[in-house]
Amino acid sequence: MQQTSLKRLDELFAAEPDRLSRLSFETGGIYFDWSKTHLDKASIGKFLERAEAMGFPAARERLFTGGIVNPSEDRAATHVAERGSGAPEDVDLATARRQRMRALVDAIEAGAFGDVTGILHIGIGGSVLGPALLVDALGRHAASFNVRFLSNIDGAAFDDAVAQLDPETTLVVVASKTFTTLETLTNMDAARTWLREAGVDDPDGRLIGLTAKPGAAVEQGIDETRILQFGEGVGGRYSLWSSVGLTAAIALGWDAFEALLEGAAEMDRHFRFAEPTANLPLLAAFADRFYVEQAGCQTRALFAYDERLRLLPHYLQQLEMESNGKSVTVDGKPVDHPTAPVTWGGTGTDAQHAMFQLLHQGTVIAPVEFVAVLEADDAQDPEHHRMLLLNAFAQGASLMQGRSSDDPQRNYPGNRPSATILLDRLDARSLGALIAFYEHRTFANAVLLGINPFDQFGVELGKDIARRLADGAGGGSLDASTRALIERAGV
Ligand code: F6P
Repeated sequence: MQQTSLKRLDELFAAEPDRLSRLSFETGGIYFDWSKTHLDKASIGKFLERAEAMGFPAARERLFTGGIVNPSEDRAATHVAERGSGAPEDVDLATARRQRMRALVDAIEAGAFGDVTGILHIGIGGSVLGPALLVDALGRHAASFNVRFLSNIDGAAFDDAVAQLDPETTLVVVASKTFTTLETLTNMDAARTWLREAGVDDPDGRLIGLTAKPGAAVEQGIDETRILQFGEGVGGRYSLWSSVGLTAAIALGWDAFEALLEGAAEMDRHFRFAEPTANLPLLAAFADRFYVEQAGCQTRALFAYDERLRLLPHYLQQLEMESNGKSVTVDGKPVDHPTAPVTWGGTGTDAQHAMFQLLHQGTVIAPVEFVAVLEADDAQDPEHHRMLLLNAFAQGASLMQGRSSDDPQRNYPGNRPSATILLDRLDARSLGALIAFYEHRTFANAVLLGINPFDQFGVELGKDIARRLADGAGGGSLDASTRALIERAGV
């Protein structure tokens, strides 16, 4: 078993009396405790040397100054500029575009689209996961709109999404960086039909486009006055800070959207300027690398002990796996180490009754991350919240401590790692900082590995084959199994 080769966490605590204070940090109203991981002074020292050797300081500076960090597509990654942290020219452009976005939010509020009671947000991957997370986490009491998110190409998903929307008073927000994505264009057409069949006068007038390719959105029939452009340098999974956040800005209010950006900018400053030994995204990346490379962990688990953050694991699956699920370095050489583990998770306490058996007694180790919020959601009975938090802490303690028994069935080996993130309260600012923490941790992992976190060619092949089949190319060149499936389905 992997864990036999790991040092004992309880021994690390005994050997390093300052362990908790060295591996727990507070910034921007968020407390991070990495002390129950196997990072120790020696391993951190080695990772610091590796970060230097991999050119981490220079790579981070390129990120914040608009340098090329995505060489396979020959471009910068400008999501940090959306929150004011990038190169001045990128920040200026993002600010100008955000002013247009604000004007549209104000116009909607002022009634330019008539009475608006609902938003149907259409997009997939990075064009939906961020806005959905924001609205689900922060919009529970604020939402004066009925906001529905539609991503899957399955017509059943469409039916669900529109079931509670009134076509007369719904705005359709179509988010797509490329404006060529099959699912999104198919759903947009279905939304047009839905509006038209309901007798809405000018269905196209209810459509708003959010994209890096305004020309493509115009070709799809969206008027340019209702297109909010964002930069090519903003990757889909990094795009919630751009106009892709429009739905969240409408549902949560403009001040909340600005606070989100400010929270992220605070984390940007921390990542850019904090000492390496107290740099949260960097240290978290060291632990990530430790578990994948030295403990052989192929997955990492994240549990939100707060219902408001239930979409966080889904959001992080795209951020982490699409960014770092690669096999070659930036130079196209086979990468020396295993790259991204599988990110999975759920909500506590539900997951305790479904997945935690394996975490406590299984033969594989998955480092666990608990994310919780100190201040309860207003509507909650305080006792619920106390129990929720205590359950999270009890799980962390029991994973680490274990409990020996002469009965092997009832033996808990312990020494299983976890990290804990505690937000003082869940608001736009803290959520912005939290998401930016994960972005920078993903970036730091990529630099340690020498890979490019900003491209995603791995998703193209399947899309390409599906597109060719949909265009009637037939499955002739495909394998016997796939041809039989196509034939059986009659598609
Ligand atoms: O298929 C993956 C992907 O390209 C993601 O990277 C992206 O977030 C998603 O599809 C949606 O793409 P678009 O925003 O261009 O519609």
